[in-house]
Amino acid sequence: MGGRLENKVCYITGAASGIGLACAERLSAESATVIGSDLRSSDKWNKLVVGEESFYELDVRDEQAQIEVVSNIVDSYGQIDAVITSAGVAGGGPVHTIDLENWQHVQDVNLTGTMLTIKAVLPTMMEQRSGSIVTVASIEGIEGCEGGSTYNASKGGVILLTKNLANDYGRLGIRANAICPGFIRTPMFEATVSLMGERAEKIRDQHKLGRWGEASEIAGAAYFLVSDDSSFVTGVALPVDGGYTAGHWYGLTTLMGLD
Ligand SMILES: NC(=O)c1ccc[n+]([C@@H]2O[C@H](COP(=O)([O-])OP(=O)(O)OC[C@H]3O[C@@H](n4cnc5c(N)ncnc54)[C@H](O)[C@@H]3O)[C@@H](O)[C@H]2O)c1
Repeated sequence: MGGRLENKVCYITGAASGIGLACAERLSAESATVIGSDLRSSDKWNKLVVGEESFYELDVRDEQAQIEVVSNIVDSYGQIDAVITSAGVAGGGPVHTIDLENWQHVQDVNLTGTMLTIKAVLPTMMEQRSGSIVTVASIEGIEGCEGGSTYNASKGGVILLTKNLANDYGRLGIRANAICPGFIRTPMFEATVSLMGERAEKIRDQHKLGRWGEASEIAGAAYFLVSDDSSFVTGVALPVDGGYTAGHWYGLTTLMGLD
């Protein structure tokens, strides 16, 4: 029996790892045709059987490469129903410590790369007069955090870029939504959390569900936004963060004996 995304063609960047890979797994399980790209393929992607010619090696900063990949997808499948932009890099430090090269790299990959991916798929979606664009932003695009300037600026940009897409293309039947993950256990997370030492526990506790998130939980939200279940949802920045952005938690009720 076919899944709920049968007949949908979905393109995912950053698909060889973490959240992008989990999205590929979930969408494939729902019978979508999934095409992925990343700087390089991975064994995990290779184990995910999603059809011939399903993976492209590409740098999201390369506009020409983006156009060629999309053109290949359209030649092969005739349509692109959804795009998920998961390619991204971490980077940070307070402003007085920022290395311009690192700042530029993070903006180029996270913000410009996202824009170029979407720019490449838009002509197809505009011709179809349909499509779902799902960007992967961050809770750090919604609120600030210590030392997060570089990354947070890029992800804040992704959120507003997404809202602008909803404004500009809604009348053509194209929806655009941003997912804002909390801290999700992926290779990027492992690298970041290893720098946090004992403070990691405090950050984990700001997720009001009291745990880190899993990539499959972001993929669940991506599935919803790709699927027709979200047909009236556009321009949203959706936190998938276990309540991280719901407010601050200091354990005060316990301290005051009010549990
Ligand atoms: N893991 C988290 O806690 C978390 C939280 C919020 C947002 N995010 C965002 O989710 C997205 C996925 O992150 P992840 O946690 O799965 O990390 P990840 O490192 O596992 O995956 C990111 C992928 O992006 C690819 N990539 C990096 N630069 C690229 C480039 N120039 N061109 C093409 N591909 C490139 C990497 O090769 C990698 O496979 C990122 O945009 C990240 O900022 C992650």
